[in-house]
Amino acid sequence: MTTLLEVRNLVKHFGKVRAVDDVSFTIGEGETFALVGESGCGKSTTGRCLLHLTPPTSGGIWFEGQDVSYMQGPALRQLKQRMQIVFQDPFSSLNPRYSVGRTVGEPLLIHGLCPRKDVPKRVGELLEMVGLRPEYAHRYPHEFSGGQRQRVGIARALALNPRLIVADEPVSALDVSVQAQIINLMVDLQKRLGVAYLFISHNLPVVRHIAQRTAVMYLGKIVESGPTAELFAHPRHPYTQALLSAVPVPDPTRPRNRIPLTGEVPSPRQIPSGCRFHPRCPHVREICRRIEPALEDQGGGCEAACWLLEGNEETIETSFSRDPKGSAGRSRAPLRVAAKRRLTSRLWPSSGPCRSSRRWCLASATA
Ligand SMILES: Nc1ncnc2c1ncn2[C@@H]1O[C@H](COP(=O)(O)OP(=O)(O)OP(=O)(O)O)[C@@H](O)[C@H]1O
Ligand code: SF4
Ligand SMILES: [Mg+2]
Repeated sequence: MTTLLEVRNLVKHFGKVRAVDDVSFTIGEGETFALVGESGCGKSTTGRCLLHLTPPTSGGIWFEGQDVSYMQGPALRQLKQRMQIVFQDPFSSLNPRYSVGRTVGEPLLIHGLCPRKDVPKRVGELLEMVGLRPEYAHRYPHEFSGGQRQRVGIARALALNPRLIVADEPVSALDVSVQAQIINLMVDLQKRLGVAYLFISHNLPVVRHIAQRTAVMYLGKIVESGPTAELFAHPRHPYTQALLSAVPVPDPTRPRNRIPLTGEVPSPRQIPSGCRFHPRCPHVREICRRIEPALEDQGGGCEAACWLLEGNEETIETSFSRDPKGSAGRSRAPLRVAAKRRLTSRLWPSSGPCRSSRRWCLASATA
C-alpha cells in the first residue's frame, strides 16, 4: 500500500501541557487508521496538527511524499484541499446562517474547482453522494436531524476531492441507529472514492469494524499499534487490554474478564516518570517507574511499549543488574509467563459486526 501520510515524532505542547508527545504513524492510500484512547490523551490535537489547525511544536508531517510540516500561504491552501476534517458535533460545525448549498458550495468557489454556474449541480451531486436530496441545498442546518447534519459535514469535506479525511469522533454525538448509517456511508464512500480516514474515536466496536489499523494513545503517546484485527484479538499492552476488557460483551452467558484501571488519568502537565501508565498499571515493576519503554516491534505489524513484552527482557535484565536495591536479582520467569499469558489471552468476544459484508449492524452497535 502506498503511504499517503507520514507523521514523525509529532510534538504539541500547550505551555506545560504535553498534549502530544512524540507520536509517529503512517496512513496508506485508501486506508482507515484509527486513534483510540481515553479523553484528553491527545487524539484531536494530533488530528488538528495534521491539518495545521494547531501548529505543531516539533516533528515532521509528510503528505504524498512532500514535507508539509511548516507549509504556509497558497501551498497550505492547496494542502487543505487534499486533507479535510469532519467534526464530532455536526450542529456547531455548520454555520447556522448558511444554507446547505452555500456550506457545501463555497469551498468549490474558494478553491476554484468549479465555475460559479456549475456549483448548484455539483452541490446536488455531493448531497446525493451522501444520501441527501439535491433540493435540500436550500435548507438551513436547523432544518435537519443530527444524522443529516453529519451527512452535510461529510459532503462539505468531500467537495474538494480530498485524499485524507480526519474524522474526529464523527458519530459520537449521534443516536446509535444513526451512527450505523453514517459509518456505513463512510465505508461506502471509501470504496467508491478511495479516500483515506484518520478515524478518531472512543467507540472500540466501531473502530474494530471500520479501521484496518489502530493505534492506542495514552497521555500523548502511542503505546500500542497494529492491524486492528490482531490488536483486538491479542492486545499486548496492559492499557490496551484494560480498554478492550471494558467493552460490553453482547452475550450474557460469556464470562467477563474486566481489568479495572485504578486511579485517575494523570495530568498532561505532570507526566509520570518512566512508563507514563505506571501509576495505574496492574503489572508495574521497578524499571517502569524509572525508564520509559520504547515502542518495540511485536511481529505481524504490531508495536507496543511495555517492559513486560518479549524483546524487552534483555533490557530489563541489564537494567535490573545495574540496580543495586530495586528489583535486581528477581527471577525473570514470572515476567515471561505473564507476558506469554497476555499475548495468548483473547479478550474480545467472537460476535460483533458482520465481517463478511463489512457493514455495521444495529444489533452489534446496540450490544
Ligand atoms: N488549545 C488548548 N490549550 C491548552 N490545552 C489544550 C488545548 N487543546 C487541547 N488541550 C489539552 O491537550 C490535551 C489533549 O487534548 P485533546 O483534545 O487532543 O484530547 P482528546 O484525546 O481528543 O480528548 P477527547 O477524547 O475528550 O476529545 C488535554 O489535556 C487538553 O486539555
Ligand atoms: S512498562 Fe510497566 S507500567 Fe508500563 S505498561 Fe508495561 S508493565 Fe505496566
Ligand atoms: Mg477529541
